[in-house]
Amino acid sequence: MSDNKISTAVIKRLPRYYRYLGELIEMGVERISSNELSERMKVTASQIRQDLNNFGGFGQQGYGYNVKYLYDEIARILGLDRTHKVVIIGAGNLGRAIAGYGNFAKRGFLITAIFDINPELTGTDIGETKVSHLSELEEYARHNHIDIAALTIPKTQAVMVADRLYKLGVKAFWNFAHTDLNVPQDCVVESVHLSESLMRISYNLKSMEED
Ligand code: NAI
Repeated sequence: MSDNKISTAVIKRLPRYYRYLGELIEMGVERISSNELSERMKVTASQIRQDLNNFGGFGQQGYGYNVKYLYDEIARILGLDRTHKVVIIGAGNLGRAIAGYGNFAKRGFLITAIFDINPELTGTDIGETKVSHLSELEEYARHNHIDIAALTIPKTQAVMVADRLYKLGVKAFWNFAHTDLNVPQDCVVESVHLSESLMRISYNLKSMEED
């Protein structure tokens, strides 16, 4: 089956498989059965078999899954076998936290530039990257490819800035601003809202207390 026929539900679960398989590799585990993986991940073995069969079923009866092969194959499906150049727009609390987190680079997501409209931040360092003024964005994009733009700016600015980035050829947005972006269909938008996670916790807590 080709990668683009894999359901979004399965794709959503792949990063978790990838993380567990990475841990197994670090522990020197070369192969694992769906039952063992199921115990570790607290997912049913049949769910695991079903998910992994979606893209070719790497398991062999009585042998289990070859951990490294599966890990590399999931990386390929997720597009992690290449690097992505990420530009951060907004060098405030959140932008700095993302820029300062070293593990994204290990996954191939390289923070290549950070822009902000505050002139006082221009030229300051965040990790190994210097903050540039937003007025330099077009010039930067003329000389550098941008795979992903992370938007860590106020919601009143996000739609306008996303539109500006789209005109510069940016097709993927990691949106932290609390607003929907109005970008064309040929874009990928992943919105991350921590407050929505908190609301889900609140609901689950409430349900537990009511039981
Ligand atoms: P902050 O106020 O510390 O930083 C915002 C930065 O954006 C400032 O440095 C400001 O100068 C800059 N900025 C404003 N307009 C800009 C523009 N047009 N272009 C470039 N830079 C611009 O705010 P913080 O705490 O970093 O939050 C940033 C955004 O992320 C806010 O919209 C906030 O609501 C949101 N947020 C979202 C979360 C989530 O889970 N999705 C969690 C926390 C914050």
